[in-house]
Parts: sequence; C-alpha cells; structure tokens
Amino acid sequence: MTEVPVVTKVEELRNFVRAKRLAGKSIGLTPTMGALHAGHLSLVEILSQHVDCVIVTIFVNPTQFSVNEDFGRYPRQLKEDIEKLLKVKADLVFAPHVEEMYPSDFSTRVIMSGPAQVNLEDRFRPTHFEGVATVVAKLLNQSQADIAIFGEKDYQQLQVIRQLVRDLDISTRILAGPTLREADGLALSSRNIYLSEDERAKAPQLYLALRSAVSQILSGGDISEALKQSCEIIVNAGMKIDYLEARHAESLTPLRSMAEGPARLLVAAHLGKTRLIDNIPVS
Ligand code: PAF
Repeated sequence: MTEVPVVTKVEELRNFVRAKRLAGKSIGLTPTMGALHAGHLSLVEILSQHVDCVIVTIFVNPTQFSVNEDFGRYPRQLKEDIEKLLKVKADLVFAPHVEEMYPSDFSTRVIMSGPAQVNLEDRFRPTHFEGVATVVAKLLNQSQADIAIFGEKDYQQLQVIRQLVRDLDISTRILAGPTLREADGLALSSRNIYLSEDERAKAPQLYLALRSAVSQILSGGDISEALKQSCEIIVNAGMKIDYLEARHAESLTPLRSMAEGPARLLVAAHLGKTRLIDNIPVS
C-alpha cells in the first residue's frame, strides 16, 4: 500500500485542495493532535463515507495547553501515525510545525462564551477553548473543507466548535463521531498511555459511574442523588473529581430535571498524574 502523502506548509495544503476541487472532489478534514488510536481512525472512516478526499491534520497545538499541562510530554509519533493511516482512507496528512501555524507576529485569538464558558472544562482549563477555537478556525480556513469531524469524547469541545462555525459563518459542516471504548468501557484517548498498570485497572470506573447514574436517572431517580452515588464510585476507585454534571446536551447549561431537555452527563477526574474525561447521553 502506498504511503499517505504528508505536507507541512499551508500553501501545500491549499495546492492539494485546489487540485481536488478542480477535479470536482469534495474535501473532509479530521483535525487531530496525533498519537492516533482506533478512535481517530474511526473518525477518518466515518468521514470518508461523506466526502471524496480526507485530510488528517496532526498538530500538537501549544495554545490549548496551559503552562502546567502536558504539552511537553504529549506523545508525538508522526511516523507511527502515518503507518496507522494506511489502514483507512486518508488522502493527505497536514502536519505543520508550530512556526507555520503561529509565526512570530501572530496576533489573533478566538475568545468565546456560550458553550466555551459553562463551568466544565473551562473552569479547570481557562485558556483551553481559546486555543482550540483559534486553531480549529485556522484549520477550517486553511483547508476550506466541506465537512470536518470531531469526536464526542471531547464533548464540550464539539459543542464549542459547532458554535464557532455558526458564529463565524464558516461553511464547513461539523460531524460528530461516537466515542470508542476498550472492552472494559474506558474511552480511548491518546493520554491513556500515561496510566500505570494499577491506574489502568481502575480507570474504567469512570465510565461505569456514568452508566450507573444514567440507569438511575432513567428509572426515575433524582439527578443530584444519582450523581452523588456516582461520585462515590469514582472516589472509591482512587480518583479526584474535577466535575461530574448533568447538562443540556446542546447548550451545556445545568439541568435539574429530564424535562429541561436532552441530557448529557460529563465527567473529568484525575487518576494519579492523568486527567481523564468522559461523557454519555442520558438515553
Ligand atoms: O481534539 C483534539 O485533538 C484537538 O483539541 C483539536 C480539535 C485537534 C485541536 O487542536
């Protein structure tokens, strides 16, 4: 099988897109930070059912990490990533260097309210969505993709990006891909490699706690009582909770009863040095 071509310059990306457009092809974008796993590959597969050409971006975006986060140790494995992409239908990898995305005179930031400021991830990572919105706006502009796909695993990010494209009249359609899980329920994440053997054994409790809350709520239980019991499951597994909340599935505003709209449970917790996030619909 031939290797997926890799470009690092915006101009090369634009030339590729221009040539495909001239040939009448539609363009899809899968933005990633690399360290690809089956979850990323499933996004590429879903997208390739909707467009003629799929571009995968691999860029560990410094602006979405704060100083105390894992930017320095975030896994970078471009060669392995490119090999993994041979298993799916990816047509181009765009892997820019930091200077290509943020030249020394770079001066713009996309700052959002709405789903970017709802006291979930933003409470613990105050500059995170500014970095995500800025880089995603750039990637969508650079590629002019017809469709871009993002995983539901980063659920608040997905809602932020949907708001971003609505607010800035970006014509790219946003697709969501479901979270892929290990057999024991742990959501696939590039950060799972940080977990020790013992932590890896405990980590699925996060998902089990979400499942337990959903089944209580669906059988008529009080939302806050269900969340309280799920917090206990998570704490008993040795994790420190940042948040476990029931929110409106689109606006992400707090939800007290199921009558207030479609609900989603979202959680973030620390297990040792690793921060895990997960979410599931209440349905
Ligand atoms: O979800 C990610 O991997 C990143 O936040 C994204 C969307 C590629 C932006 O850097």
